This record gives sequence, structure tokens and C-alpha cells, in this order.
Amino acid sequence: LFAQVPLAPPDSILQLPIRYKADPAEKKINLSVGAYRDNEGRPWVLPVVKKATEKMLNDPGMDHEYLPIVGLPEFTSAAAKLILGTESKALKEDRVVSIQTLSGTGANHVGALFLSRFYAWNGPRELYISKPTWGNHKSIMTNVGITPVEYPYYDPATISFNLEGMLSALSAAPERSVILLHACAHNPTGVDPTPAQWEKVADAMLEKKHYAFFDCAYQGFASGDLDRDAAALRYFEQRGVPMLVCQSFAKNAGLYGERVGALHVLCADKDEASRVRSQLSIIERSEISNPPAYGARLMAMIINDPELFKQWNADIKTMAERIISMREQLYDILTKELHTPGKWDHITTQIGMFSFTGLNTEQVQTMIENGHVYMTADGRISMAGLNTSNVRYFAETLDKVVRG
Ligand code: LMR
Repeated sequence: LFAQVPLAPPDSILQLPIRYKADPAEKKINLSVGAYRDNEGRPWVLPVVKKATEKMLNDPGMDHEYLPIVGLPEFTSAAAKLILGTESKALKEDRVVSIQTLSGTGANHVGALFLSRFYAWNGPRELYISKPTWGNHKSIMTNVGITPVEYPYYDPATISFNLEGMLSALSAAPERSVILLHACAHNPTGVDPTPAQWEKVADAMLEKKHYAFFDCAYQGFASGDLDRDAAALRYFEQRGVPMLVCQSFAKNAGLYGERVGALHVLCADKDEASRVRSQLSIIERSEISNPPAYGARLMAMIINDPELFKQWNADIKTMAERIISMREQLYDILTKELHTPGKWDHITTQIGMFSFTGLNTEQVQTMIENGHVYMTADGRISMAGLNTSNVRYFAETLDKVVRG
């Protein structure tokens, strides 16, 4: 019955940690998946998460009942405020539909499925994604019958944001196109538009009445500040760009495996919001029945309790600052000690979890095979995998590969 099933390739990102684990080399580094590691290379359970877990487990009222279909209300409302901000007009006017999802991937999926069924498409079901983008975006869109179309984003020649390319793609796209935007800390390039460039992008979106499909997986990771990292999408709301927002707590709370996320759809009015909510509820019920409780309870507690919220902000700073300091150390070793050929400014100017090294696929292959340094084929490294014990080895391996 399944004789005709072709063998699928392994996942371009998630296969790498498995290969890393199986590699018997003594000196090896895993810079593949975007997951925070401490300076000893270990996963980090945020102190605030430990505190909140303790509190939760000691709560005599704690049970394992089902959550409502669209999630824990204390979580979804807190998540919406966290990302849209207390000044959000849509929130004040009670026209945001927020539902709990299986992390950011679930939010992308449900958002795309909802659009595929209900968006007022103007032509074929196409959604514009940046070139390059997170490897999973294409599959998520294709799964729900939406064709991903690429828009220019990154200029390899200058290793920076290609504003002109993006603007002309936005202006050439048919009216009411759906445009996927990374809210901050662009994955995989680590290159974000400046506030002035976001302004131009918003102008172009409004000009053609485009719809913004915001993916925000790294709030707090770009600058260490939750509000600052949400500034672009908040600005888009102020300007009146129609939008939905996919939100993940995998990275900024270190809750990777707990699958905590939310989807927020900004509606025109309360009546539209209640219709949209009813349809999202049907999608959620048929796909997952209702979302998992543990992570949502933790995040609701952390965001709603002022003490815990303060501690969370400090934990986020700890992570963001360690990454920034690794960027500085790597830059210094490459430029001041090894004098590695090429320009390496982008190591410190790129932001968030990732750096796009500029290495090509062949060079990446050599990094893995000869250096046992695991990174994605597009040349992306997760800065969080570097620490004071392995940064020198990484720089030396990179230096060798660049010199050929
Ligand atoms: C990544 O890009 O490495 C992360 O978002 C993990 C994933 O699911 O791909």
C-alpha cells in the first residue's frame, strides 16, 4: 500500500543535533538549532521558570483538567498585552482574537489555515516570505494549500538588509497580498530593518493594502528588552496595517518542549472578532481539541505577577547579554588575532540568536566534516551555542575554512 511513498529528506535544522550527538570527535560544537545554552553549553532553565513551577506545584487547586478550546484566558490575554503593548488600540477596543497555540509553529499553522479558508484573497492563495526565511515557513504554508512566494530581503554582497529589493517586491505584488514579516531578530540572517526602514515597509504595505503576517519568535532576544523588540509590529498597528501575530515563548522563556504560544488576529471591530474567534475555535478543536496546560499556566503566572515579571526581564537580559558578548569575542578573535580574510562586522551588527556567517554550502560541509562544527547549510550559526571555552576553536575552524 505504501510502496510508492518516496523517502523524504531529513529536516534541514533538526537533523543536525542528532548528527552532532552521534559524532565521536572530542572537539565538536553544536551551533545548529536556535536554542539558548549557558556558558557551560548546557540548556538553561530560567530562574523565573523554576520559581513559577514551584509555586504552581504547591498550589492545592492545581489539577489536570482540559483547558478551554482556545486556551487559558489568563495566558492569552497576558500574551496579547505583552506583544501588542498596553497602548494597543485594537486591545482597548476589544477587537483582538487571541488563541493559545502549539508554540510559534502552531500559531503559524493555525494562522495560515485560517487565512487559507477565510482571507479575502485577491487572486491565487499566495503568501510572501523573505528570501531567506526560517526553513519551516515554506512547509507550513504548503501544508494548508498556500503557495509561498519569495521577496528579496537579504543582500549577500553587503551582508545586510535589502530595503530596495523588498520595497519593489511589495509594490509589484497584487493588492491585499499576505506578507510574512519577522517581528525582530530575523531567522536565519540576524538582520532587521531599522525603525526608519520599517516606516518605509509600512508605507509600502499600506499603499497596496497588504496584510502583515507577523512571526515573533524572539521577543526579548534582539535587544534584551521585550518592549523594544515588539516596536515594529506595534508601529504597524498604529499605522493601521491589518495584521495577525504569531507569538512563541520557546526562546524567551526557555520553554522549547512545552509548546507555549499564541496567535493574535486584529479585527476591524468586535463583531468581526466574535466571528473570527468562532472559526478559530472550530479549527483548534478539530486539530488539537484544546492546548496543553503546563506552559500556559507558567507563562500566565510569570506575566501577571509583577515580581515574577521583573525576574523574567532580568533572565532575558542575561541571555541576550551573553549572546552579545559572544559576538564581541568572536569578532575580536577573527579580526584582531587571526586576521581572517574578509569583513566580519556583521558578527556584531547582526542581532538575536543567529548570525549569518556568509559561508557557502560547501564551506559549511567542511566545517561539519573536518571541524565537527554543526551549523545549517545556509551558513547560519546559533550564537547561543558559543561559549568562552569553544569560541576560539570555532574561530580557528572558520579561519581555516575561509582560507581554503
Ligand atoms: C531554529 O530555527 O533553529 C529554531 O526555530 C528551531 C526550529 O524549530 O527550527
